[in-house]
Amino acid sequence: MKFFLTVLLVLFFPLAAFSDYVGIEACKPCHQKQYENFIKFSRMSNSFIGVEKMKNKITPEELKGCYECHTTGYGKKGGFVSVDKTPHLKNTGCEVCHGPGKKHVETKKPQYIKGKLTPKICEPCHTEERIRTFRFRPLLRGAH
Ligand code: HEC
Ligand code: HEC
Ligand code: HEC
Ligand code: HEC
Repeated sequence: MKFFLTVLLVLFFPLAAFSDYVGIEACKPCHQKQYENFIKFSRMSNSFIGVEKMKNKITPEELKGCYECHTTGYGKKGGFVSVDKTPHLKNTGCEVCHGPGKKHVETKKPQYIKGKLTPKICEPCHTEERIRTFRFRPLLRGAH
């Protein structure tokens, strides 16, 4: 059984099977509503477009600076590396807020995903000031 599950994972999420971040498609089967709201209402699901637009106007070093906020898990284990190697992580997805989801996807257990979130999670990418003007609560619910 375990073997079959592994084979299935390898078939459907070739990269997911070997990394900690799996990308938003992997969440869709079990969290359809959150997935659809996120795609429909949150610009975070398209955050790479802005980077792509600027790509030719900045240096490769500057481009890497953008990855830290505009992709999922850049610089972290199993996170975004490049558009070619990790296309499923190029936008800021679910795991930017909920943390790497591989183990949760495999086990379906809530303890392997961050459920309760605080503004701390947003701070690396959103300045504290911005979080305050947005007001954290309504902003949060805007996620999906
Ligand atoms: C194979 C099904 C499955 C997949 C795939 C899946 N989840 Fe879940 N998820 C669950 C189940 C089951 C629960 C527990 C639901 C409950 O207890 O009401 C859950 C709960 C959660 C919770 C709430 C945790 C809490 O503490 O209450 C979050 C957040 C979550 N999932 C996010 C994700 C994200 C992000 C992904 C993709 C990386 C994902 N899930 C993929 C099945 C899945
Ligand atoms: C510290 C985190 C951070 C870094 C680094 C960063 N961004 Fe952003 N960027 C954001 C956030 C957050 C927003 C959304 C601002 C808002 O709506 O309040 C944003 C918005 C944008 C937008 C506007 C999107 C739109 O359609 O309105 C573009 C374009 C953009 N960033 C491009 C870039 C580029 C190119 C780089 C690298 C040179 C970069 N960003 C680096 C966090 C960052
Ligand atoms: C911008 C941050 C952010 C992103 C991105 C995000 N979420 Fe959430 N998510 C939250 C917050 C905040 C909560 C509510 C947590 C709480 O009640 O403390 C939540 C709650 C949840 C829950 C628990 C049930 C519920 O709806 O309250 C699930 C399941 C979930 N998210 C799945 C996902 C999935 C799947 C994605 C990607 C398609 C995603 N989230 C993207 C912030 C985010
Ligand atoms: C890894 C970086 C990162 C983290 C962490 C992050 N965000 Fe974002 N967020 C972005 C970027 C980048 C944008 C701009 C997307 C664009 O416009 O292209 C953005 C845009 C937004 C927007 C405005 C546009 C929209 O509708 O999506 C809201 C609201 C938002 N984020 C909420 C949050 C909250 C709340 C948290 C924490 C729970 C959070 N974000 C965590 C990177 C991040």
